[in-house]
Amino acid sequence: MSGSSQHGQPMPRVDGRSKVTGRARYAAEQVHANLAHARLVTSRIARGQVSSIDTSAAEAAGAKLILTHLNSEKLVPITAAYPAGRAQTSFLPMESAEVRYAGQPVALVVADTPELADHAASLVEIDYIEASHETELATQIERARKTKGSKDVVKGDVDAAFAASPVKIVATYRTATEHHNAMERFSTTAFWENGQLIVHEATQWLSGMRAHLAERFGISQDRVRVISPFVGGGFGSKALPMPHTALTAVAAKRLGRPVKLIVSREQMFTVGGYRPESVSRVRLGASKDGRLTAYSHDYFTPASRSDPAAMPGVESPAVLYASPALRGRDRFVDLDVNHPGPMRAPAEMPSVFALESAIDELAHSLGMDPVAFRLKNDAGPHDPVSGLPFSSRSLARCWTRGAELFGWSERPLAPRSLIDGDWLVGWGCGASLYPVYVGPSSVRMRLSGDGSLLVQLAGQDLGTGLYTVVAGAAAEMLGIAADRIRVEMGDSELPFGSMAAGSRSTASVVPAVRRAAERVRGRLLAAATQGSGPLAGETTGNLAIRDGNVVSTVPGDAATEAIAAILERIPRGAIEETGEFVPAGLPSDRLSGVYKGSEGAMGPVVEKAWAMYSFGAQFVEVRIHRLTGIIRVPRAVGVFGAGRIANPRTAHSQLMGGMIWGLSSGLFEATRLDHRYGRYVNANLAEYPIPVCADIGSIQVEMLDETDHARDVNPSGMKGVGELSVVGTGAAIANAVFHATGRRVRHIPITIEDVLDAL
Ligand code: MOS
Repeated sequence: MSGSSQHGQPMPRVDGRSKVTGRARYAAEQVHANLAHARLVTSRIARGQVSSIDTSAAEAAGAKLILTHLNSEKLVPITAAYPAGRAQTSFLPMESAEVRYAGQPVALVVADTPELADHAASLVEIDYIEASHETELATQIERARKTKGSKDVVKGDVDAAFAASPVKIVATYRTATEHHNAMERFSTTAFWENGQLIVHEATQWLSGMRAHLAERFGISQDRVRVISPFVGGGFGSKALPMPHTALTAVAAKRLGRPVKLIVSREQMFTVGGYRPESVSRVRLGASKDGRLTAYSHDYFTPASRSDPAAMPGVESPAVLYASPALRGRDRFVDLDVNHPGPMRAPAEMPSVFALESAIDELAHSLGMDPVAFRLKNDAGPHDPVSGLPFSSRSLARCWTRGAELFGWSERPLAPRSLIDGDWLVGWGCGASLYPVYVGPSSVRMRLSGDGSLLVQLAGQDLGTGLYTVVAGAAAEMLGIAADRIRVEMGDSELPFGSMAAGSRSTASVVPAVRRAAERVRGRLLAAATQGSGPLAGETTGNLAIRDGNVVSTVPGDAATEAIAAILERIPRGAIEETGEFVPAGLPSDRLSGVYKGSEGAMGPVVEKAWAMYSFGAQFVEVRIHRLTGIIRVPRAVGVFGAGRIANPRTAHSQLMGGMIWGLSSGLFEATRLDHRYGRYVNANLAEYPIPVCADIGSIQVEMLDETDHARDVNPSGMKGVGELSVVGTGAAIANAVFHATGRRVRHIPITIEDVLDAL
């Protein structure tokens, strides 16, 4: 952890105690009188029609309501999925007999108890007329097309530059389908009260969910309230409204009582978004002395038949290296699958795996050290695509510092030259980067007579530490101890407080907290100088707040007075202020749209001004057992430049967590489809491998001091750390596997089977 004074205080989580003691109430823990319980029944086929539904056994067992396409409501259609709209998919399951993916909701069964709902759901008999389906990217890749979601980049004539390059790499890289599987499953508790729809659901986007539900039911947004104080992990899966939420609200309306739906772990794999698999065709050219001359990247990934654009890939990796010619193309293949969605660095994790693997291959062909090659070709202070200056870019420093921490200078260039008994040892590296997004936000603050402070905003903390960051920013500004500060979030009726996605919450919310705190502070200091108190006659410029006391900063004068005493002089004994932040350049119509539930943020490229990205360098050691092929990662080092760090303690946890997930993507995670049926074969936590503690060795994280210059857009100078460090780990592992064995594996996850015959 960086001990730098530039960063904020390493505060422990203010919500930690309530979580470990069970006092924090998650969405599914809401207690309501007369609550009914719902379960989903999902499709076993990947494409076709529901031909008949027999609900008699379920009804006989006590089901109070069985919603299907035959009796459910036709709500207002969704015109577009995210990012054009806000929903995870524009498809409306259960509004017709149509089935578009395996695991699609086809019935919602409601009963008086969870056990009865489970039992009744198991008794619903559904028959289908099956149509042929396509779920395999590899066999359908030639159907790939450019859509509105493609973020193609181009500079120079890459084909000519590649043809003229004396040293070349042509390779195809693949990443697997992954599912988020947050500890807290999806759930919705919905009820209607005086015409208002109230929904308890874990969400990363309160205003998006509110707008979505208002739109679907054709009611105004003030008749929808979404409550989500705690989110038990999201990683993107809880960013976008999914179909089951509105269906639960329909059931609640129909029954006139609160209904709670809990999605099963198996259904978690099919009712929402996921990281789609990807295929990257990469061509790199270089001069003989190791200068990159051409970079071409064709990125293929699934979309769905419902929505043509999914998760793009090529925009971010294009800013890593200086290449006189480059071209990136995003191409989507519509398959008979549920629509993919955002998952922690959705564009960057898979595409950077490809580029950072190819860069390693190129360095190897040139006989160059991979770090030296990267430093030589670093894009430097300007974005190679837009030509704009980076608001800050410490990537070269990250490489140098990381290499030092890791001991990289001891690395022999030749693969398969580090051997320790029965273990082949390899050292590999990979770059991290993630765009900076900053959006509008607002907070309300109330300083009470007892010196306690309440901060309220419709923000969402999905375990990332936003409660703590907000408390820390307020404490820093007002000199109030963190235990006197209470932060309330997660209610759509509070002032708008940013979407919790795209690693943007901290940079978006902190400026609003500061603005509100500045106003509170100004009024407090003004009050301190009034009347007949010890500070009467002082000017506010001579005063500061320290540890909850107003202190004179004039040397020799030790007059202090508690905030409480000052507040007695203020009408009503409390100070209430709001603070609003709008990044410079955000069009005013976008601002009102954001408050009403559309997405709107600045970044990563702010026209005519800045290119904004966070960067990092990762190093890993792998050890591969000569006889069994077991792959271990005893140590990893990550050095990151993400601007000013709000809270080094929670940021460290974010960055370390991202590296662990990167390692997990590199060696463990994959959701496998059986293409004969279009169904996942490992839709459970027993067969979807993730690392356990024994799989994780030493993870060293360092955050560099870094000043960000985009102050009008991003006044806190904080760049976001939520997604950054999951990017680059997979390539570092693949590159280390090559260094250990001489075997180049061009996909992740890498398993024993990939290396066994190379040992
Ligand atoms: Mo994140 S994948 O932007 O919720």
